[in-house]
Amino acid sequence: MKNPFIVGRKFDPQSFIDREKESSILREEIEQQGNTVVYGTRRLGKTWLIEKVFHELSIEGNQITHFFDVQQYPTLSFFISDFVSKMYNSSSFEGKIEHFFKHFLPKTHSHFSISMGPIRFELRSRKQEDLYEAFVEAIQIPEYLSRKKKHVIALDEFQELSILDPSIIPLFRSQIQHQKEVTYIFAGSRESLLQKIFLSKDAPFFKSMRQLHLTQYLPLDSCSHYISKNFYDSGKKIQPDGVSAILKVSQGHPLFLQLLARRAWQKTDQICNEEIVHQALQEELTSNQYEYDSRFSRIRSKEQRIVLFCLATEKGGLFSQEIASQYGIVHPNTLNRAILHLIELDFIEKLDRGKYRFTDLFFQEYIRQQWM
Ligand SMILES: Nc1ncnc2c1ncn2[C@@H]1O[C@H](COP(=O)(O)OP(=O)(O)OP(=O)(O)O)[C@@H](O)[C@H]1O
Ligand SMILES: [Mg+2]
Repeated sequence: MKNPFIVGRKFDPQSFIDREKESSILREEIEQQGNTVVYGTRRLGKTWLIEKVFHELSIEGNQITHFFDVQQYPTLSFFISDFVSKMYNSSSFEGKIEHFFKHFLPKTHSHFSISMGPIRFELRSRKQEDLYEAFVEAIQIPEYLSRKKKHVIALDEFQELSILDPSIIPLFRSQIQHQKEVTYIFAGSRESLLQKIFLSKDAPFFKSMRQLHLTQYLPLDSCSHYISKNFYDSGKKIQPDGVSAILKVSQGHPLFLQLLARRAWQKTDQICNEEIVHQALQEELTSNQYEYDSRFSRIRSKEQRIVLFCLATEKGGLFSQEIASQYGIVHPNTLNRAILHLIELDFIEKLDRGKYRFTDLFFQEYIRQQWM
């Protein structure tokens, strides 16, 4: 029997829990043809949320959806090729697409080499301007095709476009801000880079977009139901103490829930319980030990340790008198600096004023076991 708990890029509709509110915000925006930016902490389910909405839209069949993970392209040229190929796959070799090839094929002799397979082609240029021109042409295709059927385009890890080429995002913006027919969803996990793009004053177009900030874990009752059902449907069972143990560690964080449930399922013959979940957790920690030890070596100051220790043991009130006197913290600034450094390292994230949490719940568990 296949393990029913899924981890990885490939979305599985059977394994999707909740996100009702976020899905309906996204759907509403798509229906009104507004563009959205989805951002938030790493691994909290941004990609799966978009995939889930796209899955629903493709079943309904009123729109054509395209999902691009910008991270997967080594160069801008690869992105353009894939973009045009996907547009081509979803329609026919007509209009704007035909124009794209007609326009660039003659350049083959001078700047471009375009080798066409049945659906894929490769595009190379020695001149940067030609690539920009190709990019602009490509971005215009969906607007043209949307006259027949609306296109919805998701660009995941959008900020990576600026790594492929820093001039691309302004170019992209100048193209799509006049598009009326296509809906765009931008997503990413490098929050600082995304904020630079979407919230900066000189980017009013991006700033006006709907912002969907994903920060919440999944509701525990839905998680609990999901875990029991998946065990049951796959011919095994899980006792309530096993479910509670998974929820206690994962707290409803989608990735850590799937990882832990997945390993617990693997280790279970017939009935999973708390003991098996604990063993599964230890195996997860052991398999990450190398990475976690190297993280330890990046913790530099006493204050950084105190912050991690307090968060790991859920002491709360980082800036309280009690913590300050217990650990000899003379000035709150030293704590602030430690926190900033830990955020930079992606060990912790800010939730609210004075409230922080671990980004990796297994790392939190590892620290607990090391230091308590
Ligand atoms: N709603 C959900 N229900 C169940 N599992 C989920 C859900 N969302 C995400 N997951 C699980 O968490 C994993 C990470 O999700 P996803 O890749 O969507 O996160 P992300 O925020 O896009 O991460 P990254 O920051 O790395 O891009 C998925 O592979 C899946 O196992
Ligand atoms: Mg993602």
